[in-house]
Amino acid sequence: MQKISYMLIFLLAFSFTAFAQAQYVGVKTCGMCHKKPEQGEQLKIWEGSAHANAFKTLQSEEANKIAAAKGLGKAAEEAACLKCHVSGHGVDAALLGSKFSMEDGVQCETCHGAGSEYKSKKVMEDHAASVAAGMKEYKDEAAIEAQCVSCHNEESPTYKEFKFKEMWDKIKHPVPAKG
Ligand code: HEC
Ligand code: HEC
Ligand code: HEC
Ligand code: HEC
Repeated sequence: MQKISYMLIFLLAFSFTAFAQAQYVGVKTCGMCHKKPEQGEQLKIWEGSAHANAFKTLQSEEANKIAAAKGLGKAAEEAACLKCHVSGHGVDAALLGSKFSMEDGVQCETCHGAGSEYKSKKVMEDHAASVAAGMKEYKDEAAIEAQCVSCHNEESPTYKEFKFKEMWDKIKHPVPAKG
């Protein structure tokens, strides 16, 4: 029994350090591989989505007005706005890779997990290895919806009712079936 608990503690500590080191590599890195039609053009789909513009939105006059009404300064500099409008906000600067840019808005890694440890082709082609290296796994649609509503909720000053199926249809980016 005691032996098993020591082993569990060791495994937990080990997986914790393995995850703690994963860095955000940014959409430009993910997009190098995920752009071909036969792979599903995830980069293009994302670029055409509102998520790619979420930081630019905070630089607009409309955003500054919303922030001012809350007694805040410039929206693009306020944690209260950045937390939902960019990837990697509040993350230790040491974990933001050299190609990562907050200005790219809500990027791949917000939903898929920081990618430095899973981004190699060899790991990516092996689902279990990707998950072990920090890629988030969604077991069903309810899990996907839960991820969306971590931002699409009433804390958003411009909140509009979130209709999951409709919204997911607008941004989903599957790998096409082979054959
Ligand atoms: C070196 C190329 C490469 C890079 C860089 C890369 N991927 Fe992948 N990724 C792949 C390949 C190959 C697959 C396997 C599926 C396919 O053929 O498209 C894959 C699969 C995936 C899957 C599905 C995995 C599964 O098992 O369900 C996700 C999600 C994903 N990538 C996200 C990302 C994200 C996010 C990044 C950036 C952090 C990234 N990828 C960077 C090549 C890459
Ligand atoms: C809890 C997450 C969250 C926070 C915090 C948040 N936003 Fe947003 N914001 C969203 C989401 C999600 C959308 C898009 C859908 C919606 O409006 O519900 C959005 C959309 C917007 C838009 C575009 C509105 C439109 O009608 O298209 C503006 C402008 C904006 N936010 C400004 C701000 C400002 C300024 C702050 C800080 C005071 C802020 N947001 C804080 C999640 C958030
Ligand atoms: C990190 C926070 C965050 C997460 C997580 C998130 N979103 Fe968003 N989403 C936003 C923000 C912010 C906007 C507004 C961007 C703008 O207008 O500049 C937005 C906008 C959108 C839009 C465009 C709004 C419209 O009415 O067409 C769609 C569609 C969308 N999100 C779908 C989703 C789906 C589906 C998920 C879950 C798979 C999701 N989002 C997860 C922050 C988030
Ligand atoms: C708003 C959240 C969100 C963003 C942003 C996002 N994804 Fe995804 N992505 C998902 C979800 C949710 C799934 C479905 C996972 C599943 O079905 O297991 C998915 C699936 C995938 C898949 C696997 C598709 C398949 O058919 O197996 C790949 C590859 C992928 N995403 C790559 C990317 C890349 C590359 C980016 C950035 C350019 C990106 N994603 C941005 C949420 C997101």
